[in-house]
Amino acid sequence: MAAEQLVIFDTTLRDGEQSPGASMTKEDKVRIAKVLEKMRVDVIEAGFAIASEGDLDAIKAVASVVKDSRICSLARATEVDIKRAGNSIKDANAGRIHTFIATSPIHMQYKLMMQPDEVIENAVAAVKLARNLVDDVEFSTEDGTRSEFEFLCRIIEAAIDAGATTINIPDTVGYGVPDEYGAMIGRLIENIPNSDKAIFSTHCHNDLGLAVANSLAAVNNGARQVECTINGLGERAGNASLEEIVMAVKTRADESPVTTQIEAKHIVSASKLVSSITGFPVQPNKAIVGANAFAHEAGIHQDGVLKHRETYEIMRAQDVGWNTNKLVLGKHSGRAAVRSRFEELGIIFNSAEELNQAFVKFKDLADKKHEIFDEDLQALIGDIVVDTDKQRYELVSLAVGSKTGTSPHARLDLKVAGEAVTVEADGDGAVDATFKAIESHAQSGATVLLYSVNAVTEGTDSLGEVTVRLELAGRIVNGVGADTDILVASAKAYLNALNMLEFSADKLHPQYEKVS
Ligand code: KIV
Ligand code: ZN
Repeated sequence: MAAEQLVIFDTTLRDGEQSPGASMTKEDKVRIAKVLEKMRVDVIEAGFAIASEGDLDAIKAVASVVKDSRICSLARATEVDIKRAGNSIKDANAGRIHTFIATSPIHMQYKLMMQPDEVIENAVAAVKLARNLVDDVEFSTEDGTRSEFEFLCRIIEAAIDAGATTINIPDTVGYGVPDEYGAMIGRLIENIPNSDKAIFSTHCHNDLGLAVANSLAAVNNGARQVECTINGLGERAGNASLEEIVMAVKTRADESPVTTQIEAKHIVSASKLVSSITGFPVQPNKAIVGANAFAHEAGIHQDGVLKHRETYEIMRAQDVGWNTNKLVLGKHSGRAAVRSRFEELGIIFNSAEELNQAFVKFKDLADKKHEIFDEDLQALIGDIVVDTDKQRYELVSLAVGSKTGTSPHARLDLKVAGEAVTVEADGDGAVDATFKAIESHAQSGATVLLYSVNAVTEGTDSLGEVTVRLELAGRIVNGVGADTDILVASAKAYLNALNMLEFSADKLHPQYEKVS
């Protein structure tokens, strides 16, 4: 039997963004959306429009530039959310409103404080209103896995009657296990009389590390849409990872009832872009996109691979975008060559200003490092800032003195809201001294939750990509900085995090906020 089409619904820009610190600017979202479109993702969930003015703007921006993927906007089952979602996608070539309400006894009682019948009424009203605004409406039963089966059947049947075209059963808290979750999807499709009028979808969180397995089990039982994110980014332990789902379906086509239209060669690019924008590094042993995913280091394996690739490799690195020909650009490469290499990596600049910044950063790097690889270009993208009004703190220069047996001393020249400021401090280490010097002026009072350094390429002249996660009064932000000098990268990351604290607006969380 011919394999059916699996709809790949990417929610990196919405659920992925709900990871603490993964907040993205409008420009970041547009850049990621363009790579997803190039990858031929079917549906891109661009955000939660009611969350803030910035979120609304970002969804609108994505909806107006992306032409080939459907743009989806999330809304709780309320009139104000749905109208706002409708407004956010009005310029999309193809749009979708995704509305949801919790259906488990624990969520209905303690979060919604609603009786089950009221929940059904709200769901039906929400879907009807959304259908008045757009033809394509998705309805989700939040905490579906812990909901009562009979109740799920009732609410889903009513939502389909009201016009829902996709029905999503989220494993919101990552509680499901494959056999049980797959069987539940199969039973719902079998028992709901109008189930043939909608596509059934999965949305699995990874709290038990089972998100991909659960999603595939649902597909084996009739689901034809999978919600997933690049690098598995998402709330808590994350969502099902797009790259793992897609490559499982492609690599095990013999076992899969479905096929996807995804162009896998853009996967690594998308992964690196999302990682450098959000400051969530990819673990080296992560399937498909981890640095070790295709490195056959143990001698015996290498020997086997060299004699016959398939001895140890089930996929080809280049099929997912790992480059075999790594050296790409040098000091004398011109703007056109740089731009075209970025485009080959799926990075399309939103404006001439962005290209300019990227080119200046490239030239700076080429002065320090004579071989520039794709990974270097991808890392440069992370700290492009177009809206300079949102850049209160900027690094001008840094000097750090460090000697065994003495406390390191850092001295930095900064621009703070356009004014030159010099700061200095001693610290327990060079990084500590750098951060203390910045804080001596910023006095943010923020706590450093995470400091991580990643070498972008091989060799000691590699760019170091630093992530600094700060927390202030319950708000968490990530700042990212890249430089061949990891102290400079650290200072940039800290300053970027301070800028994020200053300028990222407070926003509503779709699931935790009280519905009014
Ligand atoms: O995990 C979840 O239940 C969600 C819904 C909003 C779809 O993200
Ligand atoms: Zn979710």
